[in-house]
Amino acid sequence: MARSARSMAFFVLVAVAVRAISAVTDGKKNSETSSHEFQFLTILSRAGLLPNGDFAQGPDRSEMNGTVVTARHAIPRWEISGFVEYIAPGHREEDMILPLPPGASAVRLGNDATIRQQLNVSRHMFYSVSFMAARSCAQAEKLNVSVDPEFGLLPIQTVYTSTGWDTYSWAFKARHGTGWLTIHNTGVEEDPACGPLLIAVAIKTLYAPHHTKGNMLRNGDFEQGPYIFPGTRWGVLVPPITEDVHSPLSGWTVMSDTKVVKYVDAPHHAVPRGARAVELVAGRESALVQEVRTVPGRTYRLSFAVGDAANGCSGSLVVEAYAGRGTLRVPYESLGTGGSTPAALEFTAVANETRVVFQSSSHLMKSDATLCGPVVDDVSLVPVRVHAARRLRL
Ligand SMILES: *[C@@H]1O[C@H](CO)[C@@H](O)[C@H](O)[C@H]1NC(C)=O
Ligand SMILES: *[C@@H]1O[C@H](CO)[C@@H](O)[C@H](O)[C@H]1NC(C)=O
Ligand SMILES: *[C@@H]1O[C@H](CO)[C@@H](O)[C@H](O)[C@H]1NC(C)=O
Ligand SMILES: *[C@@H]1O[C@H](CO)[C@@H](O)[C@H](O)[C@H]1NC(C)=O
Repeated sequence: MARSARSMAFFVLVAVAVRAISAVTDGKKNSETSSHEFQFLTILSRAGLLPNGDFAQGPDRSEMNGTVVTARHAIPRWEISGFVEYIAPGHREEDMILPLPPGASAVRLGNDATIRQQLNVSRHMFYSVSFMAARSCAQAEKLNVSVDPEFGLLPIQTVYTSTGWDTYSWAFKARHGTGWLTIHNTGVEEDPACGPLLIAVAIKTLYAPHHTKGNMLRNGDFEQGPYIFPGTRWGVLVPPITEDVHSPLSGWTVMSDTKVVKYVDAPHHAVPRGARAVELVAGRESALVQEVRTVPGRTYRLSFAVGDAANGCSGSLVVEAYAGRGTLRVPYESLGTGGSTPAALEFTAVANETRVVFQSSSHLMKSDATLCGPVVDDVSLVPVRVHAARRLRL
């Protein structure tokens, strides 16, 4: 049952992939007669797989030794270096802990392996990159994802899905009209073939989050975020980032050593408002944070929705919210079938900048032993009129 659902998800994914590739091909045909500006617009509106982003086109046999790719340009549209393997659909291998999803091709980044593709981007625009990956050996694996001069070290360590395949995201700001998207396995293991497997890479333009009228927070409804592969039921992980780096979840940052939050979509999850929400999957090990300008001494109301994503995460969920010196615990009894409750925290700002923080108070697991947690959505922050605040305190 689970297996057939998984296969279905992948049929959809592959179908979408094929459509994306033909869209790119059509775009190229059109661009022969179009202006530079037209290509610019084509790029801006593109959200989907990179050319051969699902590795459906593999190397020629003459450029492989077993599964090892032996030439730099052997995988169409990509450039490789180091120990890279190409794994065709249906490939069986005893030491392969993880089966490939049906119909998928994979690239395995072994010791010090790099795969890269040149992107056409628009200067000063923000982009998020989503990629579907799995670790292939037991040890902690990390990928360095970069578009010069920015990079992110993404831990491919904790597995958040029962299939082992997770989607990760990363974001960058384009400094030039083109840039190499580079994915590098920083690990060096005894077994050179140990390293993360990649099965799909996509890109999406991120528009700078704007202020919504009546909400001091940016992207409070989480509608602006990284690309989610259609047909995948596991959303996309938003990894922790250090300050001064761009977030794929516009306006918000994830603070943690190695843990993530999960960005989920309405087609496959219950979402309190709009089409997207955040599932806090790592308990107190990660926090969802936004900083906002405030006036010290003024009272504000932070309101939000807490619920469950209808993904089987049942039990007593608790979201903790922090702002200024205010804290609020919001308990939510989940049947794992979807639903939400509104909550509000009133606080007095103590500084020019207030950090709004959301955390799940405990680690929760679904019956398939994967991490899960409460969903947060529809977050807004408004100043409270002074006389109203006084009345409340009486
Ligand atoms: C293919 O790999 C094997 C095992 O690593 C090696 O012994 C052999 O020389 C390689 N063949 C070629 C043509 O490089
Ligand atoms: C990027 O732009 C160049 C020049 O406009 C074009 O030749 C190339 O095909 C484009 N590459 C992709 C992947 O769209
Ligand atoms: C990640 O890759 C970028 C680009 O190649 C490089 O500049 C950076 O030093 C790397 N970071 C780590 C920690 O390996
Ligand atoms: C708050 O902002 C004001 C005006 O910009 C500035 O003068 C003051 O130093 C700031 N205070 C703090 C604590 O940052």
